[in-house]
Amino acid sequence: MTARFPVARPRRLRRTAPIRRMMAGTRLHPAELVLPMFVKEGIDEPSPIGSMPGVFQHTRDSLRKAACEAAEAGVGGLILFGVPETKDARGSAADDPDGIVQRAVADLVSEVGDALVVMTDTCLDEFTDHGHCGVLTPAGEVDNDATLERYAAAAVSQARAGSQVIAPSGMMDGQVGAIRAALDAEGFEQVPILSYSVKYASAFYGPFREAAECAPRFGDRNAYQQDAAGPLGEALREVRLDLDEGADAVIVKPALAYLDILRQVRDTVDVPVAAYQVSGEYAMIEAAAANGWIDRDRAIMESLVAIRRAGADMILTYWATEVARRLV
Ligand code: PBG
Repeated sequence: MTARFPVARPRRLRRTAPIRRMMAGTRLHPAELVLPMFVKEGIDEPSPIGSMPGVFQHTRDSLRKAACEAAEAGVGGLILFGVPETKDARGSAADDPDGIVQRAVADLVSEVGDALVVMTDTCLDEFTDHGHCGVLTPAGEVDNDATLERYAAAAVSQARAGSQVIAPSGMMDGQVGAIRAALDAEGFEQVPILSYSVKYASAFYGPFREAAECAPRFGDRNAYQQDAAGPLGEALREVRLDLDEGADAVIVKPALAYLDILRQVRDTVDVPVAAYQVSGEYAMIEAAAANGWIDRDRAIMESLVAIRRAGADMILTYWATEVARRLV
């Protein structure tokens, strides 16, 4: 008889639900979830986003309501994207004091600004008629340094409207430094910058471009966002530059296809690291579940646990409110 073997029985720690719960090495908490939200100018009813079932382009009213629900569920923060009525080549609406983002941020801060963190995405693609994240040279390339001035103006305008964290997502070189200097000069030294330091040119942004109405009219974003197969040190270099320029925390985006990068960043820096579970990651699970091909709720939790385990201190996810409710 070999009754004494095996000696090691890892299954002992998995046998019952209470023991699995007690032994868990990865936990999710509502406070580390951030809900991305869309607000659209000039609509009377919230407008469903076809490729993101359950996600809406909000009116200012429905935005407030959804923000309250997130706050009640204990979600840690919101990040706001605006869809303006009029777009032009320089994205003028981005720093319009009466722009949709500015108005909606003021609404959110007065409604839920003490319960959670109200953040704004700072970029130009939602505001430009060509859909690129910056202003263009006559040759049609994104002009890095001219764009920095636009980002600085947009960030200051968002801070003035009450935004509690500025999150630049355009991947221009020097954007964090330019925004930090402008915020400081205008008296917003206390407003943190959560930088999208590591952002890949990803097919997984597809549904977002419907949500934010910001698909580029020509070309793509490959000359400013990172290449999935790019240099292996690139992510850490981007992070280091952003921290040198004054970033307070950083984002890795997308999440699931870049868990290795997330882990690298987490192991390298001493600031909080967020991961963005992007629109395509959301859409894939929702679509497969709608077909009955996967268990939706389990797939959502498994994906979030994976992102957390890979090192995310915070997770931006369109399921934030739902998952926060499930966690209590
Ligand atoms: C750019 C921006 C994008 C996303 C967040 N900020 C789109 C892009 O780079 O094309 C994508 C988010 C998502 O897919 O959920 N302002």
